[in-house]
Amino acid sequence: MKNRNTLSHASRLSSLPPYLFADLERKTSERIAAGRDVINLGIGDPDLPPPENFTRAVQKHAADADAHFYPTSRGDPEVRRAIAKFFAGRFNVELDPDTQICVVLGGKEGLSSLGRAYVNPGDVVAVPSPAYPVYAQGIAALCDARTRIMPLKKDNGFLPDLAVAEGARALFVNYPNNPTGAIAPESFWKRLADFADTHPETLVCHDHAYSEMTFGDYVAPSFLQYTSNCVEMHSLSKVFNATGFRIGFAVGRADIISGMVRVKTQMDSGAPLFIQRAMADGLAGYRGTQPPPKVIEIRRIYGERRAFTEKKLAGMGLDVAKSAATFYVWVRVGEDEMPFVERALERDVVVTPGRGFGEEGRGYIRLALTQPLARIEEAMQRLV
Ligand SMILES: Cc1ncc(COP(=O)(O)O)c(C=O)c1O
Repeated sequence: MKNRNTLSHASRLSSLPPYLFADLERKTSERIAAGRDVINLGIGDPDLPPPENFTRAVQKHAADADAHFYPTSRGDPEVRRAIAKFFAGRFNVELDPDTQICVVLGGKEGLSSLGRAYVNPGDVVAVPSPAYPVYAQGIAALCDARTRIMPLKKDNGFLPDLAVAEGARALFVNYPNNPTGAIAPESFWKRLADFADTHPETLVCHDHAYSEMTFGDYVAPSFLQYTSNCVEMHSLSKVFNATGFRIGFAVGRADIISGMVRVKTQMDSGAPLFIQRAMADGLAGYRGTQPPPKVIEIRRIYGERRAFTEKKLAGMGLDVAKSAATFYVWVRVGEDEMPFVERALERDVVVTPGRGFGEEGRGYIRLALTQPLARIEEAMQRLV
């Protein structure tokens, strides 16, 4: 019989960059298979469990009489009302639950659906570098669009120069930031709001995946406090240690949200109702800007890990980007980060090469503090 297994992938897949981490992942797996004690600081997937009341809510709502039906693409109306209530308390922003909120299957899906709704082939999408790769790949590349890079440099506090985004169809920013850990000052939000208000041709999206992963006195604002001309993506993945539950929400201008909903109607049938309801229960634990006690505890643990790691790395003479947010530590290790990454792996510590987040990441590594403090301490000793 003839081998018919010759279908080529759609041409847009060729615009996805080669998978940079494949070699690193293979070497890591080989070391684990050989029985070595590998400490993985490469993945932003929380090691801590979700709060028990959150998982209990998932179990409880899975037994709801209507939980087995198809959900709606926009999200359950009651759940959207709960999100609006949370948003008013947490950010002091009033949202219309019927038009300004869409439940998403995690931020990644929300961003991809947003891209499909607004980005045309050949459009320019302004994306930071370094950045969460989905803006350049999941959105620009898979929508047959072009990226325009907004470099994030230490000297600028890892903030983009918005002039670069002139004329773009869409613009993505993310603070608290992955991978740099940077937070944006109020002056930046005002500049960005001014850009959004004066550039009706550009969709401005703030990805707020780490809104709740902040330490000390810092409370991350919503971009909607500065302008309503935007969309903002929220996720429960990191704050509730629930990356596998795939739940979050998009908020913003009604016409933008309605485009997303149209895409979602064709692509998925919305998040499972019982997960949506568990999200609503989880968000109901907020008292204004004050998170539920379990989230405060989760923050305390990540904050402690962060403070320890920043101090250790600085003690090694490395240039560490200090921050009051995220479990990512962004470290300058020289012109080319690969020798550092390889050496760390030889000592059974996995770190992510900065170039995986874009060209501007060259010379940096990212550490994800998703291991217990004792393991991070051990990793630091191995790196010395
Ligand atoms: C900046 C940023 N945005 C969005 C996401 C997506 O998170 P999720 O799809 O789990 O909500 C991540 C996950 O790592 C992220 O780092």
